[in-house]
Amino acid sequence: MNNPNLVEEMRKISRDPLPTRSPSEIERLIDDLMSKMYLTEKIGQLYETGFDEHDVTGTNYDKSKTPMLIKQGLVGSIIGTHNQQALYRLQKIAVEDSRLGIPLLFAHDIIHGCKTSFPINLALACSFDADLVEKVSQATAFESSHSGVNMTFSPMVDLSRDPRWGRVMEGNGEDPYLSSVLATAYVKGYQQDDLTSYDTIAACVKHYIGYGAAEGGREYNTVDMSEAKLRQYYLPPFEAAVKAGAQSVMSAFNTINGVPASANKKWLKDVLKGELGFDGFVISDFTSTGEVLNHKIARDQKHVAEVCLNTGVDHEMIATTYIDYLEELVTEGRVSMAAVDDACRRVLRVKYRLGLFDNPYKNIYINQEDYWQLPEFLQLAREAAQQSAVLLENKNSILPLSPTTTQTIALIGPLGNSQKTMGGWNGKAWFEDTVTLYKGLQEAYPFANIIQVDGCDLEKPINLELDRVHEVVQQADIVILAVGESLHWSGEAHARANLDFVGLQPQMVEAVLSHGKRTIMVVFGGRPLILTPYKDRVDALVYAWLLGHETGHAIADLISGRVNFSGRLAMSFPYAVGQIPVYYNALPTGRPQHGHYTGDFYFSRYIDIPNEPLYPFGYGLTYSTVDYSSPDVSKKLVKTSGDSVDVSFTVTNTSSVAVYETVQLYIEALYYSVSRPVNELKRFEKVWLDAGESTTITFTLKSTDFGYVVENDQFTVEPVPFFIKVGPASNQTKKTEISLIEG
Ligand code: BGC
Repeated sequence: MNNPNLVEEMRKISRDPLPTRSPSEIERLIDDLMSKMYLTEKIGQLYETGFDEHDVTGTNYDKSKTPMLIKQGLVGSIIGTHNQQALYRLQKIAVEDSRLGIPLLFAHDIIHGCKTSFPINLALACSFDADLVEKVSQATAFESSHSGVNMTFSPMVDLSRDPRWGRVMEGNGEDPYLSSVLATAYVKGYQQDDLTSYDTIAACVKHYIGYGAAEGGREYNTVDMSEAKLRQYYLPPFEAAVKAGAQSVMSAFNTINGVPASANKKWLKDVLKGELGFDGFVISDFTSTGEVLNHKIARDQKHVAEVCLNTGVDHEMIATTYIDYLEELVTEGRVSMAAVDDACRRVLRVKYRLGLFDNPYKNIYINQEDYWQLPEFLQLAREAAQQSAVLLENKNSILPLSPTTTQTIALIGPLGNSQKTMGGWNGKAWFEDTVTLYKGLQEAYPFANIIQVDGCDLEKPINLELDRVHEVVQQADIVILAVGESLHWSGEAHARANLDFVGLQPQMVEAVLSHGKRTIMVVFGGRPLILTPYKDRVDALVYAWLLGHETGHAIADLISGRVNFSGRLAMSFPYAVGQIPVYYNALPTGRPQHGHYTGDFYFSRYIDIPNEPLYPFGYGLTYSTVDYSSPDVSKKLVKTSGDSVDVSFTVTNTSSVAVYETVQLYIEALYYSVSRPVNELKRFEKVWLDAGESTTITFTLKSTDFGYVVENDQFTVEPVPFFIKVGPASNQTKKTEISLIEG
């Protein structure tokens, strides 16, 4: 309900440019402020609470206490409030009614778009396009900042090799290099190197560290792995985000080698704040500090506060162990004043950088809608979706399907006319704004006769309409199946042990396929699903992920050939659930088996399925054919330190269809002091090629690109020979050999 007085005040909120302060000026201002702060007020800066109930993802809290706590100076930040008047009211209490008037920071989970929904992050990673990701996060920042959000809990850069884990949808897939490049792009897009701007927000990179490797893909589960592996694979995207200026890092729910990530001195203090020089604040994940008790490394809540603060968590989300016990702990000497000061300084630093002390009401406008879903954002959402879908099969070039066709198209499956293809973690977006595939096809095929039928329920094993399905397929010239999982089946706490299409969809698909009609299968999902039963039985297979608001338009653009496919898989697709984890950058093993079983028994293999994934990392088809030359190198001998080599190759579009070709460069060490993967992605680029066009690409590799984390967790560059490989996918490359030499 509108409060007219508040609305009037909010109309007057200043939009004057904010001063940019130098780091030393900020530190001086903090010194001055902290010299006036009571211990309880410093501790207050270390607490994040909420106000809106619908944003709460975990254990509940008492939101009625929030205004009173703010008044007492006991709250530093607020998570996820949608209501502008509430934001204004809370900030007014902080600024006018608390003793020192320190502004609150407003944080929100804006993961793949704020009000305009873009493709889920895993889909966006399949664009292999850092510029696109930066544009998307810039647009997201604009919509978020102008609705009063100061910080987003994004990017999520947890590398994952396990599609059973529901949160793969939020990440960049399985490769550390791709994820690092995209992590940088997200942070740059959100922050644009100018946090005082009215158009930007601060980034909080999460979930530090190892969360994506939860055992068995089960949410919140244990992580146990060598430090070398964490450093080689899981740390680089965080390092990239920190280097790009991320203001906050979220500590994860899981344990790492027995120690909870939210109470982990090694990874928080020594590595993140020490080695990486991170100077923003570490925020716990939702109650992950309190959960240290469940991990059984603390006696009681008071002990939790002691352990978490001392190991480097600066800001506690929802759990209240800091505001409940830190004062006592400081008095008893179990937590030092210096530790509290450091945590408080980190939080204040980010608030100063955001200009909140200069304008605490920054962007808390009454007319936030004016900044949402601008036509250019919807256009960007459509382009992003076009680049994120991946074409997996296209037998006899069944696609594209001419937009002038007058044929009868049967659109069958519960996702054909569903808006639940937007993706979860929707920020402020509504799934009701999603363009369905049905709508997209109706617009793209004005002369066709499109018959839509769900065939079965989307979420439950009910409502199988086999008679209707058979009837419609009989009438059709071509069938488009729209199947998979809706937005309700992936995301946090949505681990799955089976990766089949949900409910009775497999039975429905069998009914359709029994007719032998030309069939295009469009699969929606927040993770790679098992496609093995269908791969060879459908004519075309499109992996649509969950593509945000413009889902239907984008898929119709691609199917009709208005736009060419360009997406490549950022995550390998398993042949069967039992093959998980399966990933392209695996080690060779002592008894490697390549290709199909040839009769020799004692190899590293399954006796019932191949070793290779169904579709590997980097794979994706287009409507074009592109030839790659073998790579040439500027030198054959490269020094292990301070040297570089240029790798050049020519790509030629041998077809009559223009394309964005995603060129990829991998390396392979012929030997090393530790076993290394057969392929490691080191560069990629999206190249526009007109019909018949040829272009030469040159990538420069530095000596450090050949390095690897070895024994004692040290990064080394060893003088050994390497293959350099280029191609359109991790399993389709041409190579040349070079040698690293001491120097
Ligand atoms: C999730 C985080 C999220 C937080 C706040 C947690 O449950 O793990 O990713 O940022 O809730 O909503």
